[in-house]
Amino acid sequence: MSLKIAVFISGRGSNLNAIIQAISDKTLDAQIQCVVSNDPEAPGLLIAKQHGLPTFGLAHKGMKRREHEEKILEHLKQYEIDFVVLAGYMRLISPEFLQHFKDDGGFYRVINIHPSLLPSFPGVSGYEDAFNYGVKVSGVTVHLVDEELDRGTILAQVPFPRFPDDTLTTFSARGLSVEHALYPAVLQTIAKEGVKLTPKHKVEAKK
Ligand code: GAR
Repeated sequence: MSLKIAVFISGRGSNLNAIIQAISDKTLDAQIQCVVSNDPEAPGLLIAKQHGLPTFGLAHKGMKRREHEEKILEHLKQYEIDFVVLAGYMRLISPEFLQHFKDDGGFYRVINIHPSLLPSFPGVSGYEDAFNYGVKVSGVTVHLVDEELDRGTILAQVPFPRFPDDTLTTFSARGLSVEHALYPAVLQTIAKEGVKLTPKHKVEAKK
């Protein structure tokens, strides 16, 4: 099945770009319905526009989280969306938002990529935190999103080494290239096979 996705970004958009490239190379059977950002000036929105994709940029400043999310949901109503794909979206997603994407399979159809081997180094600066800690191996995690920050069911993890002469820049660049291969590959697996969870990993969604 061709996966219909909304991609949420906050900045640069290199993962968005990797997803666009994978779709164009036909290694990912997906359609980007809309690219959403909480920063109307996000460079990633320009990437989307250059590829003729619909965008929706809405600054969150001065708005309550629920109000901001409601406006996004209202905008997304015009599209059919199988999955919300968080790609460097630096905002917490509320439980109320997740309810809109509740799947019969016992999960929310919201997915995230995180720049560390979760559960280590959650939060907004995964590469920096892992690098400063002095890890010898780090990695990238793709996980389902649930009500807890960076704690949803892990779908895929790929490790990468830290070399002795690494700087934060070389270390992060190595990780980012892992991200760019991993995220489209996980999305393609979902497009082909869906998400299959063990009962232990299913979420108890509020009615
Ligand atoms: C990526 O490294 C992504 O893993 C990270 O933000 C960066 C976005 O880069 N996400 C998080 O830290 C989420 N907590 P991009 O805009 O170039 O895709």
